[in-house]
Amino acid sequence: MRILITAGPTREKIDPVRFITNCSSGKMGYSIAQAAVELGHEVVLVSGPVSISAPQGLSEFHGIESAKEMADKVFELFPACDAAIMVAAVADYRPAEICQSKMKKSDGDLYLRLERTTDILAGLGKLKQPEQTLVGFAAETDDLLANALGKLERKNLDWIVANKVSDGFGSATNTVILLGRDGSRVDVETADKLTVARKILDIVLPKA
Ligand code: CTP
Repeated sequence: MRILITAGPTREKIDPVRFITNCSSGKMGYSIAQAAVELGHEVVLVSGPVSISAPQGLSEFHGIESAKEMADKVFELFPACDAAIMVAAVADYRPAEICQSKMKKSDGDLYLRLERTTDILAGLGKLKQPEQTLVGFAAETDDLLANALGKLERKNLDWIVANKVSDGFGSATNTVILLGRDGSRVDVETADKLTVARKILDIVLPKA
């Protein structure tokens, strides 16, 4: 199978020296990419800026910075893929204007107006063909299962991987629950991210 995977955070520029980002380390997405390569799949990885190295054996690697760059690349690549697993922590908002020069401080407070970015996964949910498998991640601090289920339905996914943020971001281990569109639920016990990645792929990828 040809599998598209997104990983890492995005960076949304404020001015030439500042940006908005999040705590994603990229480890979970990179582990899924590595596990997919080990299974012999063609893996296309689209990644935001991270400090870990890309797994060996990828078919394609595309480094991007902003949510817009990730969206453009993913929409271009998705039609030729059999599955997409969206692990990236994509910014939901970006500064409405990017200052072309470095912003100078003044005495008063500063207000930044933020505008919505495209929800890439929801867009793929609309484009998805019946033979394509679409998997999303839901990193939540509260109401884990209810929020994950909402995303599964709203974004037209085959599977959602629900994970509690408490041991998710930056951590070496992860604990996840998989929810399927057919109502199935699979609990994956706490383990290092590569072990969790292998179990996720075993469950979400259609059997040949
Ligand atoms: N996602 C995406 N594009 C975005 C935001 C999120 O593709 N602009 C994907 C993520 O890669 C992940 C899933 O959507 O697979 C869930 O992301 P999350 O930020 O947790 O959910 P949101 O839909 O943004 O919902 P909320 O902000 O309410 O938690």
